[in-house]
Amino acid sequence: MAGNGFRHLSQWRVQVTTMFDARPIGIFDSGVGGLTVLEALTRAFPEEGFIYLGDTARVPYGTKSARTVERYSVQVADCLLRRGVKGLVVACNTASALGLAALRAHCPVPVIGVIEPGCRAAVTLSAGRETPGRVGVIGTRSTVASGAYPYHLAMLDPRIPVVSLACPLFVPLVEEGWVDHPAVRMIVAETLAPLFAQRLDALILGCTHYPVLKSVIAATMGPGVALVDSSAAMAEDLGRYLGGVIAPAPPGQTRRLEFLVTDVADRFKETARRFIAGVEAEWVEMVDL
Ligand code: DGL
Repeated sequence: MAGNGFRHLSQWRVQVTTMFDARPIGIFDSGVGGLTVLEALTRAFPEEGFIYLGDTARVPYGTKSARTVERYSVQVADCLLRRGVKGLVVACNTASALGLAALRAHCPVPVIGVIEPGCRAAVTLSAGRETPGRVGVIGTRSTVASGAYPYHLAMLDPRIPVVSLACPLFVPLVEEGWVDHPAVRMIVAETLAPLFAQRLDALILGCTHYPVLKSVIAATMGPGVALVDSSAAMAEDLGRYLGGVIAPAPPGQTRRLEFLVTDVADRFKETARRFIAGVEAEWVEMVDL
């Protein structure tokens, strides 16, 4: 009997460790932009803990080569792995476009990029139509040059016509807090002008910062163009991982949020406040990678 009882207990232990995992999920971006993704994830998974790392010392990634972005991404991942994360969310579009393969090869935990969920959301918009809608993609120069979005869209539906456009001025505008300003409306309209004649059905906001400019971009593109903000799609994707290869947090766990930056914490806090309501970034730790 005693033997049976022991076997039963050890079975139970095994079950518990595989069903739930109290460890946090790592999430990173080149800077503050990924907080738009973190906000969606904290809303969708109130019991999951997250450690957010903003590589503020080396932002922007969007102007750098694939080799550099890959190297930076692996260094960031190592820092988060040392803190015991159970999975890694790459909120940065540029790092997802250029560094995902290297990260997946390097990390012993599941790595989720932002591009595949965004593409799935765009394709879903034209589900049921005889001919797929035309999809536009805007992002940093490096993301657009990588061809990652057209590649993943083609994997989902090779008939989708895709038009990509780099919008290098949008990130600095958002970083400076220029959102609701006549100059912003002018720059957005001037930058997106090449897309007007493309008769787009959907436009993927392929950069962490662009959701902050969503209303200006929507007004510029008009009501016929659906905007795809990949943070919601990313939350759906993480849900799939949490039901599969990543064990979810134990029910009722009190959430733990940690913020790490590689440079000047005060500026991060200030921008974080502008970016998202409801996620407090009062306590921010500086780290060296
Ligand atoms: N986080 C970057 C992205 O989503 C934008 C900022 C940068 O260039 O680093 O592509």
